[in-house]
Amino acid sequence: MKNNLSLLGGLTVNEFLRDYWQKKPLLIRQAFPVFGGLLDPQQLIELACTEDVQARLVTQQRGRFDLQQAPFEPQDFNRLGKTKGGKAQWTVLVQGVNHHLPEAAALLKHFSFIPHTRLDDLMVSYAPKGGGVGPHFDSYDVFLLQGSGHRRWQISAQADRSLIVGAPLRILRDFRVEQEWVLEAGDMLYLPPHYAHNGIAEDDCMTYSIGFRTPAYQELAEQFLVYLQDRITVDGMYADPDLKTQKHPSEISAAMLQQTEKAIKQVRWDKEDIANFLGCYLSEPKPHIFFDAPERPLGLAKFGLAVQKRGVQLDLKSQMLCHAGWIFMNGEEHRVNERDYPLLRTLADERESPALPDCTTELIELLYQWYLDGYISPV
Ligand code: SIN
Ligand code: CO
Repeated sequence: MKNNLSLLGGLTVNEFLRDYWQKKPLLIRQAFPVFGGLLDPQQLIELACTEDVQARLVTQQRGRFDLQQAPFEPQDFNRLGKTKGGKAQWTVLVQGVNHHLPEAAALLKHFSFIPHTRLDDLMVSYAPKGGGVGPHFDSYDVFLLQGSGHRRWQISAQADRSLIVGAPLRILRDFRVEQEWVLEAGDMLYLPPHYAHNGIAEDDCMTYSIGFRTPAYQELAEQFLVYLQDRITVDGMYADPDLKTQKHPSEISAAMLQQTEKAIKQVRWDKEDIANFLGCYLSEPKPHIFFDAPERPLGLAKFGLAVQKRGVQLDLKSQMLCHAGWIFMNGEEHRVNERDYPLLRTLADERESPALPDCTTELIELLYQWYLDGYISPV
């Protein structure tokens, strides 16, 4: 792993977390001194044209922005620049590049000082000179790492977050630049959530955004109730052997209300339910993500030997978390024994496990199921 001191401009991780994380921006010149990028514009455009890839194309003409979403065809990009006078500025942004490129997943490992529960994905953008998505703010923490080319970043701590009404993108109505820098390959800018920013390509420019999600409490609470509904057991059934006549038969009686309240109060949860909900919710793949089962899978015995000799690795799209004897793999929860838990936690931490010579049958069977589902493969 890279020495985080240069990644954070000489700060230790603890200093960065104390003074900057979720608090204020940090510009780090040469965070990744030899970083020239992981793919070129043509490769990014090919990725944007791939099925099940989330990508956006933002065009800008005479100050007006336009937005198109994937799926794209290569012609969508050939046309660009050939609009009236060739003056249109544009940018393509591809989400989840780490799900497709092993080098991108390796880049994310440098950011493991932030827990995996907070990581969203790696987005890569390409823009020729003048391109950008306009001044805006995100609800994410983000590290904006410059690949090839140069980008001018303008930022502002402004509290006014009102947006242009009717614009196809979220563009700030009144962006007041407070600081600006031109970033070159290997430079990086950290921005906390809701910090206004605007990135303009100075030339052919590729930017790598390492994004960290912060779920809204409303979303967490709603999803917790969804999680709970499949797991609660409430005993008994409504009964009214002492039913009394009532003046208005359409009225919900006090007796019915009281009995129902008592029944609903049986719905209880504890910290383990909350931890397991978080594990499932935060490891759940996004709706567009599909796993490919192996075409000609190894049998269980051969798979077991491969695991014992070489270990296993997560598929690039897999998300694995753990907590107190529970393992969460792509939205599914598994209770594992004390011996297997640390081995699986290493797999979750590193996305790869070393050879597992003393692997239990129980563990081989669990790994084999994940292998058949396309979640992991032998190294
Ligand atoms: C970009 O890469 O052009 C946009 C990144 C951002 O502003 O969040
Ligand atoms: Co942004």
